[in-house]
Amino acid sequence: MQSVKDLTALRKVIREWKQNGETIAIVPTMGNLHAGHLSLLEEASKLSDRTVVSIFVNPIQFGKGEDYQSYPSTLQDDRDKLEGAGLDLLFTPNLQELYPGGMDVDTRVNVPKISDILCGKSRPGHFSGVVTVVTKLLINVTPDYALFGEKDFQQLIIIKRMVSDLCIPTEIIGMPIIREDDGLAMSSRNSYLSQAERKLAPAIYQSLLTAADKLGRGDTSFDDVESQGHAELESAGLKPEYFSIRRTSDLGEANSSDQQISVLVAAWLGSARLIDNIKVDLS
Ligand code: PAF
Repeated sequence: MQSVKDLTALRKVIREWKQNGETIAIVPTMGNLHAGHLSLLEEASKLSDRTVVSIFVNPIQFGKGEDYQSYPSTLQDDRDKLEGAGLDLLFTPNLQELYPGGMDVDTRVNVPKISDILCGKSRPGHFSGVVTVVTKLLINVTPDYALFGEKDFQQLIIIKRMVSDLCIPTEIIGMPIIREDDGLAMSSRNSYLSQAERKLAPAIYQSLLTAADKLGRGDTSFDDVESQGHAELESAGLKPEYFSIRRTSDLGEANSSDQQISVLVAAWLGSARLIDNIKVDLS
């Protein structure tokens, strides 16, 4: 596995691959890799001749008072996990090079409206931070494919919009959520949970399954299903931020004629803000 830290070295490797006519896939990450990331990598290796993983804890997607400073940085562990995982290139960019003008004044990319709902409501600027760094990665790696996990479903839909709006010739691929045995969606932030909190955390997936079951059985009183989901999480000891039924395609408010809908949740458990979602096919 080759490893590069700067854009000049990255572009040199990419140029060589392109000259050989090889296809490229990228898996952008913030490190602290788990089985969810490795499943993206496995798919990336199947899709393309060359696979790049980037590890960069992107400061501009964290709000004031969020966990940027404490976000787990486990580079050596990550390298060990990536060895033998079929990866061609690890890219660990540095802050100065990605934000040459300084983080506060650098050019930003923003996908309007959809970035302000759900997670965007409580995390203003978060999705602009995400799509800005993803744009920089796509411009420099020029991949045929970029893979993202569906746990961050709003992020995935926003990145798809950004790529389409900016006419970037990369196919964005969403990959299924990987869960622990008890249903908890894998996430780097699960490591913030105490043992007692970890036992409560599967309530999130349980609440989604309950809602999906109601919707699947023809319940169209979405407001009620949302409030019941909320209440279920509260009684399990979590602090839900939202429990929302949306159209899967663009996360607009769902109505009873929609056939592809998703239930999305964000909830606090101790110092961890956890998100999850489930798709429901009503066709
Ligand atoms: O999902 C993540 O890990 C991050 O938001 C991403 C896409 C790597 C951008 O920093």
